[in-house]
Amino acid sequence: MGDTTNLNFAGSHILSIDQFQREDILKIFSTADMMEPYAARQSQTRVLEGAILGNMFFESSTRTRISFGAAFNLLGGEVRETSGFESSAIVKGESLKDTARVLSGYSDIICMRHPTEGSVAEFASASRVPVVNGGDGHNEHPTQALLDLYTIQRELKGSGGNLDSFRIAMIGDLKFGRTVHSLARLLCLFDPSRIVLVSPQELSMPGELVEALKAAGHEVVETDQLNEGISGVDIVYSTRIQEERFPSAEEADLYRGKFRLNQAIYTENCQPNTVIMHPLPRDSRAEANELDSDLDSNPNLAIFRQADNGVLVRMALFALIFDVVHLVDKHASELPWRSTRHNI
Ligand code: CP
Repeated sequence: MGDTTNLNFAGSHILSIDQFQREDILKIFSTADMMEPYAARQSQTRVLEGAILGNMFFESSTRTRISFGAAFNLLGGEVRETSGFESSAIVKGESLKDTARVLSGYSDIICMRHPTEGSVAEFASASRVPVVNGGDGHNEHPTQALLDLYTIQRELKGSGGNLDSFRIAMIGDLKFGRTVHSLARLLCLFDPSRIVLVSPQELSMPGELVEALKAAGHEVVETDQLNEGISGVDIVYSTRIQEERFPSAEEADLYRGKFRLNQAIYTENCQPNTVIMHPLPRDSRAEANELDSDLDSNPNLAIFRQADNGVLVRMALFALIFDVVHLVDKHASELPWRSTRHNI
């Protein structure tokens, strides 16, 4: 998968994990580490002052949309955004390419989510500024995979683990879940690990991705048994049934709640330090309850640290695309205010 040359980030679109080599990923992660004092509001940088992010989300989003915006603001840039088709002229029949030609005149970079596979790449083909894929249908969600792997690296550090020898179980809707598609592509850049794919057979990981993981040297196990799947892994990565990709809610209902993880199941099957991840949103309705709230006091539940890491990784990508990594600290200054964070 992908090209074998490293990515020249400056001015590049970020559309697929296939664009990256291992060294690119490590560069993003070391840049993300640099962003910590700014994301933690210990200091501010104005390195992107004057730049405008067009945040175009044609499908619902909490984390991706707001964290792209927050990341750009934290680098000193401004954000203009639109949410849903109803607030854009696409409802009047304007094409994606015309929309791209126009919006790229108003922005220096565009982040976009769209319900159709390939649509963000189509938009990018007519954009005069870099475009970052915030999720295109069931295809890819590359920045989510980057923040997921960054989180895995950070969480494994505590137990002496690393990205080249860990075991992960990906659970749930592996057919329509774009985060697991991008994460699978990303794992192909690292050395052999054990990857357990836990899903109903009808919602299994696309064959080409399973083959790519095997070709990369990973041991891949496919099962529909949750308890067996999560036993002995370092990372449990749970996902939501992507009901918006099913022909009807009734069809999604057939799979909802099949792989519930709670503290009792965790204690019985996982190692004491197994990390629990989820790209979020987790479906907490009674009929699904895929990650029970009784896990909320489990210190290995990393889901909110994972969401926080999204800001660091997205700041890193912006700094790399604008080619200002070396200038971030030069444009730093003290904050005249203090942000209060309560322990909850
Ligand atoms: N993980 C994720 O993509 O969340 P949102 O749908 O809230 O952006």
